[in-house]
Amino acid sequence: MFATLLTVAATLALADGMETDSPPAADSAAAPYTVECTAGSPTVCQVDKQTYIGWRTYHATCHVCHAQDAVGSTFAPSLVERLQAIDEARFMDVLANGYTGQIGVMPGWKDNPNVNKKYNEIYGYLKARSDGALPPGRPKKLP
Ligand code: HEC
Repeated sequence: MFATLLTVAATLALADGMETDSPPAADSAAAPYTVECTAGSPTVCQVDKQTYIGWRTYHATCHVCHAQDAVGSTFAPSLVERLQAIDEARFMDVLANGYTGQIGVMPGWKDNPNVNKKYNEIYGYLKARSDGALPPGRPKKLP
């Protein structure tokens, strides 16, 4: 009886482990944001909640160096451009751990609670900017 229970527990643990290995359910090729803009001028853009939080978090912290709308400054690069060159894995690593490059020091954020739970949100916002889906300016939240 006891042996049977152990076997069941082991099988469950194995199934759990396998689940972790399987690819994410969401289509990883899909854009990590939703943006809807009105035609005409001024263009008004609405974004999904996650992207909106990304916009807010970016403009609370990252804009100090990378400038408003992520266009870059004299001492930190344009993230509109950088995100066309780096992949998501690199982005997540840089955000957590930082690095020092030829331009200067990019701080790591893994100990900052205002940022370290928002990596995906910031990524979605910056991806929308670098894909050209979201123009500069303050977006509104989709209903
Ligand atoms: C104190 C200034 C500063 C702040 C604040 C800052 N960065 Fe940076 N960041 C830099 C600098 C400088 C670089 C360029 C380093 C180099 O390549 O020499 C950089 C580079 C990057 C890169 C490019 C990585 C690559 O491999 O090309 C990304 C992405 C990035 N930062 C994201 C962010 C995000 C997101 C935030 C907000 C959470 C942020 N940064 C806040 C200074 C800053």
